[in-house]
Amino acid sequence: MQDTIQSKRMSVLTYGCQMNENDSERFVGQLKSVGYELTDKLDQADLIMINTCCVRESAEQKIYGKIGELKRLKAVNPNLIIGIAGCMAQKDRDEIFKKAAHVDFVIGTHNVHKLTELIAEVENKKDKVLAVWDQAERLAEDVPAVHKGKVSAYVPIMYGCNNFCTYCIVPYVRGRERSRPMEDIIKEIEQLGQEGFKEITLLGQNVNSYGKDDKQEDGFAQLLARVDQVESIERIRYMTSHPRDMNQAVIDVICQSKKICEQFHLPIQSGSNRVLAKMNRGYTTEYYTKLIEQIRKKVPQASITTDIIVGFPGETEELFLETLEFLKTIRFDAAYTFIYSKRSGTPAATMPDQIPLAEKKARLQALMDVQNTISLEINKQLEGSVVEVLVEGPSKNDDTKLMGRTRTNKIILWDKQGPEQVGQLLSVKIDHAQTWVLKGKLYNY
Ligand code: 5AD
Ligand code: SF4
Repeated sequence: MQDTIQSKRMSVLTYGCQMNENDSERFVGQLKSVGYELTDKLDQADLIMINTCCVRESAEQKIYGKIGELKRLKAVNPNLIIGIAGCMAQKDRDEIFKKAAHVDFVIGTHNVHKLTELIAEVENKKDKVLAVWDQAERLAEDVPAVHKGKVSAYVPIMYGCNNFCTYCIVPYVRGRERSRPMEDIIKEIEQLGQEGFKEITLLGQNVNSYGKDDKQEDGFAQLLARVDQVESIERIRYMTSHPRDMNQAVIDVICQSKKICEQFHLPIQSGSNRVLAKMNRGYTTEYYTKLIEQIRKKVPQASITTDIIVGFPGETEELFLETLEFLKTIRFDAAYTFIYSKRSGTPAATMPDQIPLAEKKARLQALMDVQNTISLEINKQLEGSVVEVLVEGPSKNDDTKLMGRTRTNKIILWDKQGPEQVGQLLSVKIDHAQTWVLKGKLYNY
């Protein structure tokens, strides 16, 4: 039996955020443990999983399109097993079988650690299997993960979200906040260090409330301080922070640490207090501005990035202009900008004054124009300076170049030369800054 399983091949396609990336790594880990090997050639796979996102409608449409494409492969190979996982699976459940009859199983976000049992059931039952629990039964601690890459790894520290921002589907598909025990996290990071990983990113939908489900007030600050002690790791990142929960204790730990990177991703979502209140974000622009001032005072070299949604219900032209002005005041290093997408079941979906798509698109463009100018101006200031980069590997678009990141998470490209440098910390002198990447030359090499 084992022999037949051993020759099987799998492909796992991942959409959405880093949490999904990490879940996929745990799918791959589990499937490897029962003899599957990875292939990126879908037409050679015996098992294809799509790990889905449903944060915006556009993501869902793209994913349903991809699921549709797999029908052709199933026609050629009737033994092909097709599974749908992730947030859209949690939301749509057996609807997925109705929309796509060639799908064999649907696995929810709370069942990630149950994949091998599920696959065995699918293989034996020869019928569709739906495995979507409404709640997490326990934290999935003992699931092997096969990490993409060898330099940088994601480590989840908490699952779920309690915030219920009125636009957001995540609390409905990822459940309530559950923090992993600190010792388990540290053990995992030490192990990654021993395997040669140099950078870790602590993951959670709201990392700043780490430990609060266990009545620890400054749990995240304490965790960061502990992770900072892990010898073999050179750089520590974390995401995502909720501005309301980012506090002085965390900023102080970052300030004292050598390894926690000077990068703050703090999604503001809107620069209008009226819109922020309707979004249920729990802070004002004044609060946020003070927070940024504190960070810049304590960590002057910090890069600060954000997420912004345009076209939230009731966002008038005037309120949108407040967001534009806010961008100009704060001067973010980068902003990830999104068009508001109605998610049914969320409070904002039934709010009055929904904004027409054409208007939302125009606002997005205006926002990007302002932000791109600012990003470029900030990056230009780096021209002529020497930065420390952690080498991740060849550039995606040009394999004569290597790609690495600064501690502030800027992407740096330079000409590949000399022996293998992946995983090393090198100095690069920046000679050409662009909006999203900076180009340079190896310095003193
Ligand atoms: N529409 C548009 N963008 C959204 N986001 C979350 N929900 C929605 C939605 N319904 C954005 C937020 C969040 C990022 C991950 O996705 O900006 O920070
Ligand atoms: Fe990640 Fe949210 Fe998308 Fe789920 S819905 S994959 S949590 S971004």
